Amino acid sequence: TGLVTIDPAFMNTASTKSAITYLDGEQGILRYRGIPIEQLAEKSTFVETSYLLIYGHLPDKAELTRFSTLLTRHSLIHEDMKHFFDGFPSTAHPMAVLSSMVCSLSSYYPDALDVDNKDLIDITIARLLAKVRTIAAFAYKKSIGQPFVYPRNSLRYCANFLNMMFSVPAEPYEIDPEIEKVLNILLILHADHEQNCSTSTVRLVGSSKANLFASISAGICALWGPLHGGANQEVIQMLDAIQRDGGDVSKYVAMAKDKTSNFRLMGFGHRVYKNFDPRAKIIKACADQVLAKKGHDPLLDIAKGLEEAALKDSYFVERKLYPNVDFYSGIIYRALGFPTNMFTVLFALGRLPGWIAHWKEMMDDPQTKIGRPRQVYTGPTLQNYVPLDQRS
Ligand code: CMC
Repeated sequence: TGLVTIDPAFMNTASTKSAITYLDGEQGILRYRGIPIEQLAEKSTFVETSYLLIYGHLPDKAELTRFSTLLTRHSLIHEDMKHFFDGFPSTAHPMAVLSSMVCSLSSYYPDALDVDNKDLIDITIARLLAKVRTIAAFAYKKSIGQPFVYPRNSLRYCANFLNMMFSVPAEPYEIDPEIEKVLNILLILHADHEQNCSTSTVRLVGSSKANLFASISAGICALWGPLHGGANQEVIQMLDAIQRDGGDVSKYVAMAKDKTSNFRLMGFGHRVYKNFDPRAKIIKACADQVLAKKGHDPLLDIAKGLEEAALKDSYFVERKLYPNVDFYSGIIYRALGFPTNMFTVLFALGRLPGWIAHWKEMMDDPQTKIGRPRQVYTGPTLQNYVPLDQRS
């Protein structure tokens, strides 16, 4: 195979240079454009952080107003797109709905296909960021048989989403500023994570000059897997199973260590963090705060017990397996009223600016070439074709 080297799963191979996110997995450091996520979670909003990731700097007042106005202006989806929801079964997983509908946006906004037209990119980005939120909320409303709630221009990004999710015509939904803040924090913490599986997917698809909607739709599919963003749904299902099974966390720690069991502690471990995931630290503190307000959830006790038992166990210590971003987030989403199958959609909503930033960084780089990994062939040597009647 000459000069070709093999690195399955990209354990040690960088696929690109990038100036967006700095991650030090040994120290547990994560920064967007140089700014620690702790500061952004405390002081920023999701919209402002999205701007930071996509455009490379914190916006000034005029830039932020322009960006927020664009997001407000583009929050409706085309009325014809509402028919899509009639075609999906009401049991459809919202990630399936989301990925299909995001790809379909390219048929409503075909100007996005001209990826070299730099004048159109801002509007395409705004459309995507604004509409994904509406699609996600409509998918939920469809699944529970309630009427769609349209976006409202007077509401900020997260409040608008909460309103579309939870208000009903009979009663206005009271936006609790504390809950709005928590949603902002969670989305900020998910906003980018350098070359993870879904972001690498967006880059690879985009490297063929596929349009932004198509590239992000591929990223949503990659995120859905239980080893990636799908883990947040799996965590709650696991905690629920432990509760139904009597709450004995040590039994599940033992099962996770048993290589024949095929069971892993969901929300534990990470390819790059060999220390506590800094996002999980903030989310754990948030979970305490939200449950103090919303009422006790026995699953939080189970999660804490499981974490404590695992972190005492040499299997987890030696392998440096710590809770990751997905371990405590689901408990908060649950307390806010989101159903379990919407958790990964919330992850997608949060990761959107990161995906967009990477797609844009790649498209803006004149050195970008189509992504095309090599392989090490392990199949048969030359074989001759055998006609059907001569095959044994
Ligand atoms: N439970 C039990 N054992 C584990 C776990 C776990 N959650 N995670 C890793 N290990 C073991 C694994 O069996 C292996 O052991 P050994 O060296 O004896 O073969 C060792 O730790 C290294 O694991 P790996 O699978 O080689 O590590 P990886 O970098 O390929 O995988 C991971 C990373 C996140 C896919 C993995 O830790 C995992 O499956 N975790 C559970 C799923 C999860 O929580 N995913 C969310 C990740 S964070 C957010 C996101 O990306 O979406």
